Order: sequence, then structure tokens, then C-alpha cells
Amino acid sequence: MTELTLTVAGKRALTDRIAEFTLTPAAGPLPGWDPGAHIRVALPKGGDRAYSLVSFAPVPAAPDHYRIAVLLEENSTGGSAHMHTLAEGDSVTVAPPKCDFPVNADAPALLLAGGIGITPMISMAAAHKAAGTPFRLHFAARSAAAMAYAEDLTQLCGDALALHLDDIAGGPVDVTALVRTLDADTHLYICGPRPMIDAARAAAEAAGIPPARVHVELFDNAAATDGDTAFEVELASTGEVFTIPPGRSIIEVLEEAGHDLMYDCQRGDCGICQTDVLDGTPDHRDVVLTEAERAAGKVMQICVSRAKSARLKLDL
Ligand code: FES
Repeated sequence: MTELTLTVAGKRALTDRIAEFTLTPAAGPLPGWDPGAHIRVALPKGGDRAYSLVSFAPVPAAPDHYRIAVLLEENSTGGSAHMHTLAEGDSVTVAPPKCDFPVNADAPALLLAGGIGITPMISMAAAHKAAGTPFRLHFAARSAAAMAYAEDLTQLCGDALALHLDDIAGGPVDVTALVRTLDADTHLYICGPRPMIDAARAAAEAAGIPPARVHVELFDNAAATDGDTAFEVELASTGEVFTIPPGRSIIEVLEEAGHDLMYDCQRGDCGICQTDVLDGTPDHRDVVLTEAERAAGKVMQICVSRAKSARLKLDL
């Protein structure tokens, strides 16, 4: 779909590190979107960043603006740093909304958000409220000063909202205990940092909650980990061998060599790039696979995962 050129019509600080942007078109309505959707904002040096759309009311079919909230990441030199330099009147190029984190507003929901992971949950909570479907929103942040939208969420959700401040509580929210409260009809939606997602998914798996009722969006990049080393990837179809250096993904290296690959999120949460592993031991960095699948090591997400062995042979 055609890219959109939008103007920053409003910018306000939600916290020291989170800014909200209201983006408007020069004329006419914008494409509608489903709760949980995101837009991708192009960066001046190439590439883009995905930001969830924010709405405290049911989304109109033809909205006149988009709203996003952007966390200034520590040591950012790219996406979030650029976004925070934007001022009212600036233009941005945006890919139309896409929803990889859809919500079923007809089924009860436990929404579990950490930090900036609250952003897609707002429109999901609004959809549940509008549909009259039971939901609970548990929102955790490091401190009150780091928590965006607390007052607006209280207005939206009322008693369905539970706020958790790590500094007051003396630690992170007990996601295992929350997941254990799920009944047989309730869907679990999790958006936040990787440790929260891993803990919630492990708890859901241990509680026997079917994967079809667990929905995840990762809100941090599978950035390089200290100690990452290079490894080799052998393609079963051609026998070609590529070296994947630290800081680069298998997808990046193979695409550069002209291979056509299927992928989408590039964060390790959609599962589209999943690839069979024929030999070697993957180092899983995704949030898609179950613990059993990770242990078996027969498949991997090649957008983020790396290798524990010197070489992987992949079914590519
Ligand atoms: S592209 Fe989404 S998990 Fe790899």
C-alpha cells in the first residue's frame, strides 16, 4: 500500500523518556486500523521503526489522525533518538497500519503490559470496553515517573485496571501468579520486555493454557548480547556457507547475498521466518517457541536467533 506523508501536529511529553506524537494528513481521512495495530515510520538514514497506534476510544473507520508514543531508548542513535528530535510541523513518512497483534474483543481478556508495551493494549482495552466484554489490564512500570498514561487508563478502565510500580512493590510484577488466575475462556495478551514475556509464556505453558489463547508482542529488539560471536550457516539446498558476524542476523546476511526469505516482525515474535534446523544447535532469542521446541532445537527464528554451535545447517 502507498506510503503516507504525515505532519507532526502535536508532541507532548508523557514521561521524561516517552513522547507522544499526533500525526495528521494534509487532506482527507487516513486508513482505519484494528486494535493492536502499528505503523512503521521511515528513518532518514534508511530503515524504519514500528510504533503501536494509541486510541482510548473505538477506532473510527476513517480516522483523521494517528497517535503513537515513543520511548527514547538508552544509548539510542537510531529510531527513537530521531523520533524525539521531531517537532510540530515536521513531516514523517509512514507505512499504513498493520495489525500483527489482533485482539478478540468478544472473548474475555487479561491484558498484561510492561513499560512502553502499554501502547497496543490501550486500543485493545477500549475495544473490550466498547463491546462490554470483561477484561483486566495489568500495567507495570519501573516507577510512577516512568509510567505513561496512568490517569487516562484509570478513566478508560476503572476497576479493570491494576497498576504495578516496581520501585514501590520492591520488584517486578508476579506474572506467574496473574497467569494462574486465568479461567478457561480468557485470552492472555502480553506486550512488554522480553523477561516479562518469557515469564508469562512459561507460566501459561505450565498451566496448560493452549497457545491459541496466548498472544504476544515483543517490545524490545533482540539486540546483540555481549559475548555474541560469529557462526556459520550452511544452506541445505545449495551447500553455500555464510558467516554471520555479531550484530547481524541470519536474514540480513542471506538477503544481502540475494536470497529471498519470508519474514515480517524481525523481532522474534511473529514466527513467519521459522526455519528447520537440520544440524547444529540454535541459540534461541525469540518469544515464539515453546520451551519444548527450544530444547528440541529442530526449528528456529532466523531473524533473531543465533547459534551455540560453530555451524548451523538450515533447510533453506
Ligand atoms: S520475522 Fe517475525 S519471528 Fe522472525
